[in-house]
Parts: sequence; structure tokens; C-alpha cells
Amino acid sequence: MTAPSALPSPTPRALHPEIARRRTFAIISHPDAGKTTLTEKLLLYGGALHLAGTVKARRAERHATSDWLALEKERGISVTTSVMQFDYHGFRVNLLDTPGHEDFSEDTYRTLVAADCAIMLVDNRKGVEERTRQLYEVCRRRRLPIFAFVNKCDRVGQEPLELLGLLEQELGLPVVAAMWPVMENDTLHAVVDRRRSVVHWFQRGGDHGASRVAIETTPLTHEALAAHASRSTVDRTFEELGLLDAAGHAWDPDAITRGELIPLYFGSALTNFGVEPFLDDFLELAPGPTPRPIAGGEITPAHEEFTGFVFKIQANMDPKHRDRIAFVRIVSGHFEAGLTATLGRTGKPLRMNLPQQFLAQERTHVDDAWAGDVIGLHDRGTLRIGDAIFTGKPVAFADIPRFPPEHFSRISVKDPLRRPHLDTGLRQLAEEGAVQLFKADPQASVPDIVGAVGQLQFDVLLHRLEHEYGVPAKLVSLGMSHARWIEGDEKALLRATLMRDRQLLYDAKDRPVLLFTNSFAVRWAERESDGLVLKEFPD
Ligand code: G4P
Repeated sequence: MTAPSALPSPTPRALHPEIARRRTFAIISHPDAGKTTLTEKLLLYGGALHLAGTVKARRAERHATSDWLALEKERGISVTTSVMQFDYHGFRVNLLDTPGHEDFSEDTYRTLVAADCAIMLVDNRKGVEERTRQLYEVCRRRRLPIFAFVNKCDRVGQEPLELLGLLEQELGLPVVAAMWPVMENDTLHAVVDRRRSVVHWFQRGGDHGASRVAIETTPLTHEALAAHASRSTVDRTFEELGLLDAAGHAWDPDAITRGELIPLYFGSALTNFGVEPFLDDFLELAPGPTPRPIAGGEITPAHEEFTGFVFKIQANMDPKHRDRIAFVRIVSGHFEAGLTATLGRTGKPLRMNLPQQFLAQERTHVDDAWAGDVIGLHDRGTLRIGDAIFTGKPVAFADIPRFPPEHFSRISVKDPLRRPHLDTGLRQLAEEGAVQLFKADPQASVPDIVGAVGQLQFDVLLHRLEHEYGVPAKLVSLGMSHARWIEGDEKALLRATLMRDRQLLYDAKDRPVLLFTNSFAVRWAERESDGLVLKEFPD
């Protein structure tokens, strides 16, 4: 099969080859689309796993072996995200894992802030589903390049042309087929690499996708296709390719890198069909480490000093020590274990000992890392989400956005004497990004309402308040699920406070937020509230 072209040529600023070869991305999808399976196959192809099936098996056995958050053990679920690193054809790949199930939380969104691009995985029967749509929205706002992979093509799904149209409609961006499926008897046989005019034929192995699948590559000609597929398949494939050539979008790698064009791939993570051509193409096209905004400019990966930011804090891997791991995305420069940098918020030196990297759930110490990598630092409560860490001149990265919660509850404590402990716990956990705080009364000195992106965040909150702060707390749901930050003149704001089926709260920065029971109520408010601007994301 076609080997990926050589590593990207150095930029004019002579990007260090170690940085140029980094590729850092996340996979976004709806539960059940096959993210775990695809992740596993990427690790298999990257040589990080020898036989697929291991990630799932580990997940199942984990509550027996892990010392992570006790709640994880009880439930056997993954509350947190991790980073998997492997080498593939000269690239150093950092795959950021975003939990997508019930354990969906703000962390899932925040992980996208650390990524340079994303793979959007969709089920060939279902197209873009709810969770994918929400994650896609975050990617789109950040102009993150997206690569779409239609999964489960080993079984009957929607017509590929139909799917392409649906994706464009759903995503509001042009989609260009990089590879096109050759389907025979409703199952994937091969993919056509349209740019290189070759066809990759997959040979069914006997081990249900546990090992790499053999590929035979032929030119894209009638004769070559006819030697492998039935007459009707050949005719249909050429007809579809003709339609794509005539009416599809032109191939434009720059538009892909700018996040304005989505390349589309087809495959089956389960049988490995299409996975290798996809991975090769993806790594070639995916951007290397991208710049991050700072006030009045940006820090590029070629910046000589070490800079990075904390995008996630994972608490209590060892509850006895109130031990936390702060995940740092390196934006520029080189990191070596023991490096002393400055923590921007305090201006104090921060010595980074024994940082960690992760392969699935295994943690290993890291001696050296580069822009694009993610490292985990041990933290005793010094670090916060959004913190900048740097050597050389001070840098302040743009704030990591908060994401709209979908669950809101009033929080209270049975014993009023414990109220100060509750306030301390809430403040610290909010700083860590574990929960968002709101007030119903703008004059109140302490928040009394908590908001979370996923219900599980509340379970974690209650568990941690009780075990770390000694406060058994109680939550009562507000029954509201849609938040809109509001702006407008005084009259419009007054009208907003009088609307039915809504509740007015104030966020941690005292900005007014309207809560609604459903999307219908939001639409109604949008129609009826002249002069009022409703924003899905806070600025
Ligand atoms: P997720 O992490 O996105 O939730 O999805 P996961 O990989 O766990 O896959 C969800 C289900 O879809 C699994 O089936 C998995 O085997 C199946 N699946 C994943 N990729 C493909 C594919 O390419 N083709 C087909 N036909 N199925 C696929 P399950 O029965 O729920 O679990 P299991 O018993 O197979 O583990």
C-alpha cells in the first residue's frame, strides 16, 4: 500500500524535527459508534498493542487493579480521560481519550482544547448523533480540523452518497470523500484512494480483527476492479466516483488544515478494513502542533522556550495523599524531567519532577517531551485549569472556555455548621474544573447551585465532598437542562426575568444565565424576547 510521504518539511522557522513529527488529536463520537474499537485498532497499527481486545479487557479488569478514584472502582467506569502515545511511520502520535458514555463531563470538552485536530467517528446507519454533534460544535468553534470516519461498513448501512450529503447538511461544512468504499453484497471490500487513484483490497483474516489485515493495492482501473469484484460492483463504483468527480468538492489540503473542509473515510474498526489507509492519510494531512493564542498574539511551537497549559486535573489517584495529576499540553519547546519553570498565576518557580505519560491505563515516567505532547504532573493543589507554565518571558494563554452545563442542582448540607466546609470544597472543586458554580441571588456571598455537563459529575462531586471535605451534601435538581448566557438592554433583561419555564442564575463571574427546561422553551424565548441575545457558550 502507499506509504505516507516523508515527514513534513521544516517550516521557515526550522521547527525541531521532534516537534514536526508530533500529531495530537482526539476521537469524537456518540456512544456505541465504535470509538473504543477504533482506538484499539490505532494502537494495534501503531505497535502499542500486539493483539486487539486488550483495551476493553483492561477496562473490565481495572476495578480489580486500579487505585484510582474509588467511584471508578465501584462502577467500573472511566471518569477521566487519558492520553495514549505511540509511534507510527515516523510520527509520534498522541491520542487523547475522551470518555463518551454516561461518564461524559466537562473534561471531555476540555480535552479538545489540548488537541490539534479530531477524528469524528460515525456509525454508517446512524450518521451524526447527539453527542457527536455537541463535540463537533466545540471543534467547529475552535476551527479544529476534522476527519470523518464512517464506521461499521462491514454491515449494511446508509448509501455512502446519501451519508455524504447528510454529513454536509448536519455539519454545515463541505465534506470531500478522500476514500470511497467498494461495497459488495452490502459489505466493505475495498476503499478507493481517490487522490492516488489506487484501490486497497482487504483480505478477511481468521481472527476477527485481532491482528492487522492484509491489503493488496491495485491501480484504479476497470480491469483491476473487475479482477476483484462483480460486474455490478465495478459499474456502481465507477458511477459513484464519476458523480463525486463531477459534483463533489475539490480536494484542498489547506482548507482541511484550516478546519473548513472535512475529508471523509470509510471502514470497519471491527474487521480493520480501511483502518490502515485512513491512519496513513490522516497522519499525513493532520496538522502538527498548532499555535495557541495569548493576549495580542500567539505562541507557536517554534518558540524556543518551554510553554504549556493545564487543561485538566485528575484528582485522588491516591486518596490518602490528596494527590492530583495535572495534565499539561506542551505548546512550545522541549521538556526534560526536573525542569524548573514558572507558574504564571503565582509567578513562583515550579519544579516538574517525575512527570507521567500514559498508555491506556498504564502510567510510565517520562524523561523528555516536546511541543504537542501531554504530560501529567503530580500536584498538591498548586495548579489550576488554564494555568500557564513557562520558562523565559511570562506568557498568559487565552482562558480555557467553560462549557454549558446540562444538569443543575441546588446543593445543601444537613448540618449548618458544616456549611463553611461545603463552601471550601465547592470552591476548590470548581477551581479544578470538577463542577461549575452558580447563584440564584446575585447578592449572595456563596454559590448554592451547581452545574455539570454530565450527571456523573454530580456523583463524583458528592463523593468527593464527603470523603475529602467531610461534608455529606444533598442535591435537588432544578429540572432545567438548557443554559443560555444572556445579553441585552435593561428592558430585554427584565423581560427575560419574567419569562415562563425559565430560571435566572448568575455564574461565577456574575454573568446572568437563563435556564430552560427544553430546547422548545429556548426557541420560544429567542422568538419572543426582542433585543435579548441568548448565547449557548459564555464568552
Ligand atoms: P464506543 O466506544 O464508541 O461506545 O463503541 P465500542 O468500540 O465499544 O463499540 C460498540 C459496539 O459496536 C461493539 O459491539 C463493537 O464491537 C461494535 N463495533 C465497533 N466497530 C464496529 C464495526 O466496524 N463493525 C461492526 N459491525 N461493529 C462494530 P458490542 O456488541 O456492543 O460489544 P462487543 O461485545 O463486540 O464488545
